[in-house]
Amino acid sequence: MNTIAVIGATGEVGFRLVQALHSSYRIVAIVRNLGKRDFSCYPDVEVRYVADISKVEDLALSLVGCDAIVNTGYIWFAEFIHKAVLESQAQVRHIVFTGSTGIFTRLPSPSADRKLRAEAFIQEHYRFPWTIIRPTMIYGHKDDRNISRLVQAVARYPLMPLIGSGSNLIQPVLIHDLVKAYGTALFNARCYNKSYNIGGSKAYSNRELIACAAASLGRRARLVPLPAALVRCGVALLSVIGLSPISREQVQRFQEDKHIDLKAFITDFNYVPHDFEHGIEYLVHDLKAHGQLR
Ligand SMILES: NC(=O)c1ccc[n+]([C@@H]2O[C@H](COP(=O)([O-])OP(=O)(O)OC[C@H]3O[C@@H](n4cnc5c(N)ncnc54)[C@H](OP(=O)(O)O)[C@@H]3O)[C@@H](O)[C@H]2O)c1
Repeated sequence: MNTIAVIGATGEVGFRLVQALHSSYRIVAIVRNLGKRDFSCYPDVEVRYVADISKVEDLALSLVGCDAIVNTGYIWFAEFIHKAVLESQAQVRHIVFTGSTGIFTRLPSPSADRKLRAEAFIQEHYRFPWTIIRPTMIYGHKDDRNISRLVQAVARYPLMPLIGSGSNLIQPVLIHDLVKAYGTALFNARCYNKSYNIGGSKAYSNRELIACAAASLGRRARLVPLPAALVRCGVALLSVIGLSPISREQVQRFQEDKHIDLKAFITDFNYVPHDFEHGIEYLVHDLKAHGQLR
């Protein structure tokens, strides 16, 4: 049985990946925070502690005996992982990275620049097969910090503010579709040395997305459009006194189209991710199961 190292195994994606893969592979869960997740229900999973991925010597030790790596942490770990694989002399035959479609932003973004540099590093330096999976916004569980907040706000408030016209496009990906993608990509020669964008099967305007979120609760969304320039001024003022709930960058990002082309993904992975109308049911179920929604 092949051994897969999962970097970031305590993360939202990483932990679900361990759950999904543990019956098909021997899993080495690489974690920096031993108390964060309970791996005891997966007795075959070996947990190895690395205080920080930048500690290359420790990371190298943790990779000994691994045949493949899935990095569900940040893509800019690529350089550390590369050094660690060479140092460990592990016979790694494939590595899957998690990128982000955030690299396609046209706004100035140090984070996008850093991710682009990491992708360039992978293409230039990795001498064994790699695959980059770039999710759009991830949703589908109570801690997704994105759509879960939207659903809770729609449930709580009779009116929802909308920045600008709400016509910009967004295509969030259900976490279960993303987790499935790693399993499909692993040791799949068709995916070697390629990058894939993954999102939901359809793009929605922000307005439509809020309407879907409301419909999933059996409601109709009542939207209050606010001129974008007014929101930017308000955010700038509130930021000065540290009271703004969102940043200026988030206001600008909200007004950017964030849809993607899924053709390459569907061809090579052979499945179509959920659209938002169906994917949101998983989120609503998770919120209700944890008492965060009535
Ligand atoms: N969430 C989104 O909407 C979204 C969209 C596009 C791309 N992505 C990418 O998808 C990936 C997974 O997302 P997620 O939601 O699962 O994130 P997450 O829950 O924050 O998980 C990140 C994981 O990386 C670990 N980690 C972070 N810095 C580390 C370091 N210096 N050394 C060792 N481990 C470190 C974290 O450890 P701890 O558990 O100890 O914190 C955690 O296990 C990330 O690369 C993110 O950039 C996310």
